[in-house]
Amino acid sequence: MPLPINLKKSEKMTYTVLVTGGSGFIGANFVRHLLTERPDWRVVNLDKLTYAGNQANLADLADHPAYTFVHGDICDQALVTDLFRRHNVQAVVHFAAESHVDRSITGPDAFIRTNINGTFVLLEAARTYWQVQERQTERSRFLHVSTDEVYGSLGSTGYFTEETPYDPRSPYSASKASSDHLVRAYFHTYDLPVLLTNCSNNYGPYQFPEKLIPLVLNNAQHGKPLPIYGDGQNVRDWLYVVDHCEAIALVLEQGRVGESYNIGGHNEKKNLEIVELLCDLLDKKIAPLPSGEPRRSLITFVRDRLGHDRRYAIDASKIERELGWRPRFTFEQGIEQAVDWYLANRAWMEGVLDGSYQKYYDSMYGESIEAKE
Ligand code: NAD
Ligand code: DAU
Repeated sequence: MPLPINLKKSEKMTYTVLVTGGSGFIGANFVRHLLTERPDWRVVNLDKLTYAGNQANLADLADHPAYTFVHGDICDQALVTDLFRRHNVQAVVHFAAESHVDRSITGPDAFIRTNINGTFVLLEAARTYWQVQERQTERSRFLHVSTDEVYGSLGSTGYFTEETPYDPRSPYSASKASSDHLVRAYFHTYDLPVLLTNCSNNYGPYQFPEKLIPLVLNNAQHGKPLPIYGDGQNVRDWLYVVDHCEAIALVLEQGRVGESYNIGGHNEKKNLEIVELLCDLLDKKIAPLPSGEPRRSLITFVRDRLGHDRRYAIDASKIERELGWRPRFTFEQGIEQAVDWYLANRAWMEGVLDGSYQKYYDSMYGESIEAKE
C-alpha cells in the first residue's frame, strides 16, 4: 500500500512505534532494545504507571531524542486516539496489562478492565487511524504480546503449539485469552494487520519482586523465608527477557500478518529446582547467612495457589522455522546474568520495595499528563 498522500515528508522518514506498558518489566527491556538496535525508529511509551510501572527502569533513556513518554491509561479512548494522530503511529507493541496471576485471583476487576477493555480501545484507535482516516502503510502492524497461559495446563508430556485450543484457567489467563480473540477478530473482520505472540515465563532485569525469581532473590539475600506453593513440582519454561525482546522485534518486522507465534526458552524447570539454584548461586556470590546455614534452609512450603497450573512448555518451532529465531542465552547464562544484575542494582530493588519508585515520576515531570514531547 503506498504512503497516504497527506503524510508530510518528515513523517515518511520515521517509523513510530507505540509501546504500551513500556515502563513495566518486559516493556522497559523492549524499549531499551528498540532505542539501541533500531536507532532510526521513534518510540512512544504509553504507561499508566500502576504499581508495576517504574520510571526508574528507563531513567537513563528519559532524554533520548527518539523517546517520548506519555503517562496515561490504555482505556482512555480520547488519549489513545489522539496519540495515533499526533505521532503518526505506524506500529503498536502492546504489553500493557495486569500481569500477576495471584493478584487476578484476589482482585480480577483490573484484569478485565485493562487486559480486555484496554486492548479493545487500542484496536479501535488503530482501525480508526489506519483505515477510516486512511493512514495505513505497508509497515503498519498491531503486535499483541500474550502468554502461554491461554493454552491451560499440561500433564507431564506434550507442548503448546499455535494450534493448541485455548483453555485459560485463571482470571489473568482468561483476560489474556479474551484479548487474543479480540485481536484475531479485528484481523478477520477488518483486515487489521495484527500479529500475536504467546510467550513463556520471562526472567531478567527490572522484574517486579512479586514474581518468583526476583522475590526469591530478594528474600534469600535478606534471610527471609522462600515461599514455595504446593509441592514445588509445577513446571515453567523460562526465557531470558532479552531473548523475548529480540523475538518480538523480529515478529514485528518479519512475521506474517494474522499469525500467532509461540516463544519459549526450551528451559523447563520445576519451581523447587529454580529456588534451589538461586539459593546456591547466592551462597557462592555473597556473604553467608548469619546462621551459617545454606540459603536452601529458607525454603518454606506454603498453601498452593488456587487453580495452580501444573506445567507449561512451549513448542517454539514455528518462529524458528519461519523467522529463524532461537534463544541466544542458555538458562545457565541468563540466570547468572540476572542474578548479577539484581546484586548490582540493590538500590533499584529497595526503591521498589519501599515504594519510593512511585515518587520518581512526580519528581521528574511534576503532574503533567504528557510528560515529554
Ligand atoms: P508488568 O506487570 O511488569 O508491566 C505491566 C506494565 O503495564 C506496567 O508498566 C504498568 O504500569 C502498565 N499498565 C498496566 N495497566 C495499564 C493501563 N491500563 N494503561 C497503561 N499502562 C498500564 O508486566 P510484564 O511482566 O512486563 O508483562 C508485559 C506483557 O507481557 C503482559 O501483557 C503480559 O501478559 C505479557 N507476558 C508476560 C510474561 C512474563 O513472564 N512476565 C510472559 C508472557 C507474556
Ligand atoms: O507463563 C507466562 C506467565 O508467566 C505470564 O503470562 C505472567 O504474566 C507471569 O507472571 C508468569 O506467570 P506465573 O504465574 O507462572 O509466574 P510467577 O512468577 O507468579 O510464578 C512462577 C511459578 O512459581 C508458579 O508456578 C507459582 C510459583 N510461585 C510463585 C511465587 C510468586 C511460588 O511457588 N512461590 C511464589 O512466591
